[in-house]
Amino acid sequence: MYTSRITGMGKYVPENVVTNDDLSKLMDTNDAWIQERTGIKERRHIKKDDGNSTAVMGVKAATIALERAKISKDDIDMIVFATLSPDYYFPGCGVQVQEMMEIHTCPAIDVRNQCSGFVYALSVADQFIKTGMYKNVLVIGSENHSGGLDMTTRGRSVSVIFGDGAGAAVLSRSEENGHGVLSTHLHSEGKHALELSLKGPSTMHWVPELIEQNPQEDIPYYPYMNGQFVFKNAVRRFSEVIMQGLEANDLQVSDIDMLVPHQANLRISQFIQKKFQLTDDQVYNNIQKYGNTTAASIPIALCEAWEEGKIKDGDTVVLAAFGSGFTWASAVMKW
Ligand code: ACO
Repeated sequence: MYTSRITGMGKYVPENVVTNDDLSKLMDTNDAWIQERTGIKERRHIKKDDGNSTAVMGVKAATIALERAKISKDDIDMIVFATLSPDYYFPGCGVQVQEMMEIHTCPAIDVRNQCSGFVYALSVADQFIKTGMYKNVLVIGSENHSGGLDMTTRGRSVSVIFGDGAGAAVLSRSEENGHGVLSTHLHSEGKHALELSLKGPSTMHWVPELIEQNPQEDIPYYPYMNGQFVFKNAVRRFSEVIMQGLEANDLQVSDIDMLVPHQANLRISQFIQKKFQLTDDQVYNNIQKYGNTTAASIPIALCEAWEEGKIKDGDTVVLAAFGSGFTWASAVMKW
């Protein structure tokens, strides 16, 4: 069995900064409410004419990751792309990245696991490397939320939370014993699927039907979130899946050098930090600047933590995510 290791990371966020005050001009909300409930101060939104899309942002993050991994695009054996906001209904963003980066014909997999998407994608990549089938896998999480949010007061409990951006990692066969992905842990519970969902356009809700119905209250082409129900499940599942990762590797909470939780809500991260009695240095949060970027949130945060020198060689790094599905997941790595 081989081990896989992150050898390079990159991130990209659009230049356009949208503050809470900016949102309060579009809907009945305010900076105090958003900061108190979520910790978010600002987020990035794609501008219509800036050339960005979910796949394009993924390419920008991936290009940096490849440079840092010191490998060429010809060395990539597979692409795994996680997103809930693909450019097209089909095909997926993975094949777009393959074409945009002029990577040779290779397998490209799209992962549809929302906020847990990056950890799922990392796990998929890890399995292919562990078995010896592939040496270098490009793992990307990218989201263009802003194009699909209800920017009126009706959608305020969802739309203030989400931001756009992308993060990428090159996962490579590890040459150094003891370094790399130690384990990944994936879960789902589909009975709560519609508690955090976007129903259409889809085969259940085609566009003509959506236009014809256009109900005032239940609009299926904007995301729906049962916020408090999601919050309660998130804190429970985050805790469980972090513990599962630690136990699988005979580690204690005190062994964690850096926990990078999915940036769903600062209050969720703070709850986990308090529960596990972790110090500020052991948990990385950047939701304040970027909002919740779903599948991009963990790779953006992990990349930024590394860039700031907060993750060092040999550190025990734990990733944990929870989101729509419900799905939840963790990964434990020796950096
Ligand atoms: N500005 C001002 N007021 C608002 C806003 C807003 N943006 N949004 C809602 N309100 C109001 C509500 O209407 C409500 O008013 P009322 O009391 O008069 O009815 C009041 O604020 C409280 O609303 P709640 O929804 O109860 O607020 P809550 O404290 O639950 O916070 C939030 C909402 C931030 C969404 C929280 O529930 C949350 O973070 N949930 C979890 C999110 C999460 O983890 N998602 C998973 C990942 S995302 C993914 O997978 C795609």
